[in-house]
Amino acid sequence: MATTVISGGTDGIGRALADTYLELGHEVLIVGTSTEKGQAFLTAAERNGAGDRARFLRADLSLVAENRRVIDLITDTYPAIDLLVLGARFHRSTRAETADGLESNFALFYLSRYLLSHGLIGPLSRAERPVVLNFGGSGRTGPVRWHDLQLRHNYPGTGALGHSGALCDLLGVHFTRLHADTPVHYVLNHPGVVSTSFAGEYDRATAADVRRLKAVGKPVSLAVAHILPFLADPRARLTAVLEGRQVPTDTRGFDPADAARLHEVTEKLLAGLPR
Ligand SMILES: NC(=O)c1ccc[n+]([C@@H]2O[C@H](COP(=O)([O-])OP(=O)(O)OC[C@H]3O[C@@H](n4cnc5c(N)ncnc54)[C@H](OP(=O)(O)O)[C@@H]3O)[C@@H](O)[C@H]2O)c1
Repeated sequence: MATTVISGGTDGIGRALADTYLELGHEVLIVGTSTEKGQAFLTAAERNGAGDRARFLRADLSLVAENRRVIDLITDTYPAIDLLVLGARFHRSTRAETADGLESNFALFYLSRYLLSHGLIGPLSRAERPVVLNFGGSGRTGPVRWHDLQLRHNYPGTGALGHSGALCDLLGVHFTRLHADTPVHYVLNHPGVVSTSFAGEYDRATAADVRRLKAVGKPVSLAVAHILPFLADPRARLTAVLEGRQVPTDTRGFDPADAARLHEVTEKLLAGLPR
């Protein structure tokens, strides 16, 4: 039986993908912080006769240790992973740091995805046609603040999401180079504005913007329909998708030297954290 793992699978596009792959007969594990939302997924799966294939894992993926716990648990539970979706995000209007001392968007939107994808390369490699889906910037966000990755100066508000998206693009580039000897295909997706929960803590002005985005955003079902063909049949080892259209990956935002640089900086950062 095929296995799908979804970080941020309790809500928004992640939850819709969880339902979709459950319907397609996969075993589906979703990860999020809300026990209530996790239970809602399990209850719906039970109702649809798929309870035995649905699983929820509560974890705060903004913490490095939690990612490592999740990786160990998944590796012990599933021999192979066919689809890994990296979708957890939580945005704050004002800068915040995690208990690891990392800027919160950097920690959840980028570093968790770095840890989960590299950390699960074993079970991913054992699947027949494994795919990683990461919601990045697809070359449309950035530039990367190389001298301020933790966004200490002039915190850009919602721009912090775009910054993490640009880091995820580079993560995808280096991941495919580093694991070129595995069958893993990597899909980067920018879905455009989608009417989801927009999980976060917002000041009044940003909350008003978020309400507007929810009102004009495309339905989650359309965002899912846009990406499903690329997951079923990825066109290259690395594919970038923008609102359902493939976009080139030979542009500035996918520079292999930048991607290698980010990998090196990330490894150094992780080495400096207490284990
Ligand atoms: N919606 C858009 O317009 C839009 C636009 C561009 C890109 N994207 C990208 O698409 C992806 C999915 O976005 P979405 O809008 O569908 O998401 P969403 O509705 O905001 O849901 C976010 C998900 O992240 C989980 N999450 C939040 N904090 C977490 C934590 N500390 N640890 C683990 N999980 C956590 C939430 O679960 P809990 O509530 O259970 O914690 C939830 O499942 C994201 O990468 C987003 O950046 C979305």
